[in-house]
Amino acid sequence: MSDTFFLDGEAIPFSPGQTLIQAASAAGKYIPHLCWHPDFSAHGSCRLCIVRCGGREVAACTTPAAAGLEVENASAELDAARRTLLQLLFVEGNHFCPACEKSGDCLLQATAYQLGMLDPHFEHFYPVRPVDASHPEVLLDFNRCILCELCVRASRDVDGKNVFAIAGRGAQAHLVVNAGSGRLADTGFALSDRAASVCPVGVILKKGAGFATPIGARTYDRHPLGARADGAKTAPGRSEVRR
Ligand code: SF4
Ligand code: FES
Repeated sequence: MSDTFFLDGEAIPFSPGQTLIQAASAAGKYIPHLCWHPDFSAHGSCRLCIVRCGGREVAACTTPAAAGLEVENASAELDAARRTLLQLLFVEGNHFCPACEKSGDCLLQATAYQLGMLDPHFEHFYPVRPVDASHPEVLLDFNRCILCELCVRASRDVDGKNVFAIAGRGAQAHLVVNAGSGRLADTGFALSDRAASVCPVGVILKKGAGFATPIGARTYDRHPLGARADGAKTAPGRSEVRR
């Protein structure tokens, strides 16, 4: 029999070695996240998955589950902190959803809807980040990168190609393409790579395929974050914000 911890008072079973978010996700419970993906090792950079346990806030994607642990996820205070993190991400890049073909299929946007982020709050940085359209099949729009490193992990750990990396420090950190020219066309990147389909936002885009899905049929139109298959809400009161 597996051990359990408590998520908002509800017993969640876990196997040895599982993190809080792995066990919660397996049990159908939603903890906000951007840089965590079930197929990859935890990265711990976005901090959207903060939960409260043991009197402090920890990242659910890097914290191991432990028997009897009391974990708070659904709280107005945590959601307020998460909204601030989202607002920082929105102003740091150029996230203009009405003109973005990832709208409706974007985890950043869907999380902002889920958490009721109604404005950017902070002043926009308006960074200047030229797109890379050199590859015949894939466009890179660096303006929307949230530095989750999922493409870095996918290219390195699954594709064995190391096409992407993060360069720079602090506010200067940015995604780069590992080629002398810095151009995607000068790497071994292919549309069939795992890294081509892992980006949670609108950076890595297939050419000639934009705006193909009608409004109402896009990923998060059909399956809003936090909604269960039976239509009930996993977090009552938090899923009311809809497009
Ligand atoms: S390009 Fe996409 S997957 Fe890669 S680091 Fe940026 S947001 Fe993450
Ligand atoms: S999902 Fe845990 S820090 Fe990003």
